[in-house]
Amino acid sequence: MIIIRTAAELEAYTGRELQNGHSIGFVPTMGALHAGHLSLVEKAVQGNDVTVVSVFVNPTQFNNPTDLATYPRDEEADIRLLAQAGVDVIFMPTVEEIYPGGLEGRERHEYALGTAAEVMEGKFRPGHFQGVAEVVARLFALVRPTRAYFGEKDFQQIAVIRNMVESEGIKVDIIACPIKRADDGLALSSRNALLSPEQRAVAPEIRKALVDSLEYARNHSVQATHDTVVERIDAVPGLETEYFEIVDARTLLPITEWDEAPEVVGCITVYCGKVRLIDNILYKTINK
Ligand code: PAF
Repeated sequence: MIIIRTAAELEAYTGRELQNGHSIGFVPTMGALHAGHLSLVEKAVQGNDVTVVSVFVNPTQFNNPTDLATYPRDEEADIRLLAQAGVDVIFMPTVEEIYPGGLEGRERHEYALGTAAEVMEGKFRPGHFQGVAEVVARLFALVRPTRAYFGEKDFQQIAVIRNMVESEGIKVDIIACPIKRADDGLALSSRNALLSPEQRAVAPEIRKALVDSLEYARNHSVQATHDTVVERIDAVPGLETEYFEIVDARTLLPITEWDEAPEVVGCITVYCGKVRLIDNILYKTINK
């Protein structure tokens, strides 16, 4: 395994691999790796000739400076975990390598991300998805992956990245991978490291409320299902729902009737103290 820190070196490496006819699996991350990331890495290692993992906390996708400043980082542990996972390259760039000209002087481009980027995270974190699109497009240009792997915890992010790839004409297979959870159901997230023991103890109530709502939804309306989830979570001391939306899984636009869409997902963001936790649940799916 090698660690690459410059864009030029990474481009040269992936250029050689592509010339040799090798497929490249890519897992973009912001580090503080956990079993969720490692499940994506495992898929990339199994499904490709070489695997590249990037570790880069991307400032342009944070709309809240405190969130960026407190985002967990542990470079040493990340390197150890990725070496064990059989990765070929870890890309650990500086901000200047990703954004030549620096954050202020960089070239800007408005990505066409569709309406999927305007709701939920898009509404509550203005600029977030433009920042995600910007960094993912830059990383894709350097890595030129055959396949790129993303976790379904960030369900909306996957839809937005698919839109970005389509509008930019980037050739890559976007592979969505199931959420990894702790034994008590909490979706694994780098941000979980920021929870106090008391907060960690109540955080699984988010998943419990979502799972119980599956049964409730069978004979209640979309609105009633929405309300029961929010009321239950907000009744837990220390938890406060920012939004819960029941949406068409393809467009991410809200629905009002269960039969409005073939696939329906509930996406939630909850503050546990100052820590922002996200999760989702599938209410309706079509067998593929
Ligand atoms: O999901 C993440 O960790 C980030 O949004 C990503 C895709 C690595 C871009 O910075």
